Amino acid sequence: MAPAKTPIIRVRDIVYYAEEPSLLGGAYSKPILDGISFQVYRGEVFGIMGMSGAGKTSILRLLMGLVSPASGDIEVLGRSIVGMSESQLNEVRMQMGMCFQYAALLDSLTVGENVAFTLRRHTNLSDDEIKRKVAEYLEIVGMTGQEEKMPAELSGGMKKRVGIARALAINPQIMLYDEPSAGLDPIMASVIDELIVKLRKEFQMTSVVVTHEVDELFAIADRIMMIYQGEVIACDRPAALRESDNAYVQQFIRGQAEGPIAV
Ligand SMILES: Nc1ncnc2c1ncn2[C@@H]1O[C@H](COP(=O)(O)OP(=O)(O)OP(=O)(O)O)[C@@H](O)[C@H]1O
Ligand SMILES: [Mg+2]
Repeated sequence: MAPAKTPIIRVRDIVYYAEEPSLLGGAYSKPILDGISFQVYRGEVFGIMGMSGAGKTSILRLLMGLVSPASGDIEVLGRSIVGMSESQLNEVRMQMGMCFQYAALLDSLTVGENVAFTLRRHTNLSDDEIKRKVAEYLEIVGMTGQEEKMPAELSGGMKKRVGIARALAINPQIMLYDEPSAGLDPIMASVIDELIVKLRKEFQMTSVVVTHEVDELFAIADRIMMIYQGEVIACDRPAALRESDNAYVQQFIRGQAEGPIAV
């Protein structure tokens, strides 16, 4: 089924410096993101690919309002988040589940407590309701009954799944994944990818997946944006990208050393 074309995220012409350009130093460094625009539609898996250091994680941090662009606008669920107060941002963040590049579980808490963490902090649910939700989301990620385990007892793939359950537990409208398969063996990477696709199929979840794993994105994304040197060089369906005559796109998806991309 083709995803409905309702934009849920709108990014317009953002320019982003990792640090504020020095006013004293005079020369402005080149921004990490130099005028990037894209839209993510409701219910799609939107992939962002680019080389290491291209600014992929920075885009997710911008979408979460953890950092601000120097210029441009970011709309999430119809609201511009640039310049929002921290409390307004927190409302928007409750609609976005973030899965970090590394699983980022709290090692001193059990799996169940990790999944419950945001619910305890940001909702008024009773202990029973939280317990029920934790069980429900662990089931979705294929980790039924593992509440009492400690993170140290889990494999990398299991930790990732707990991280996804924790992000899902706030019932977000959007999931953001940073390198979801980083550090996983190919089978566990597929398990995570299938989970992302399952969430779209069963819950019409909108997902933004950031990775430099080309094959992974081509397998799961409805559309893929490719960034290079701070700019969008392509944004299209996987099949269209494969047939693209853009030399940058071809070099990247084939992983070739030869081509216009400087290595
Ligand atoms: N807090 C920071 N201070 C200074 N530079 C930063 C900061 N955060 C990121 N950068 C720089 O910004 C650029 C983009 O970083 P980012 O983490 O967004 O890239 P990425 O595409 O996610 O890379 P990777 O694939 O390695 O995760 C990099 O050159 C990085 O060195
Ligand atoms: Mg990154």
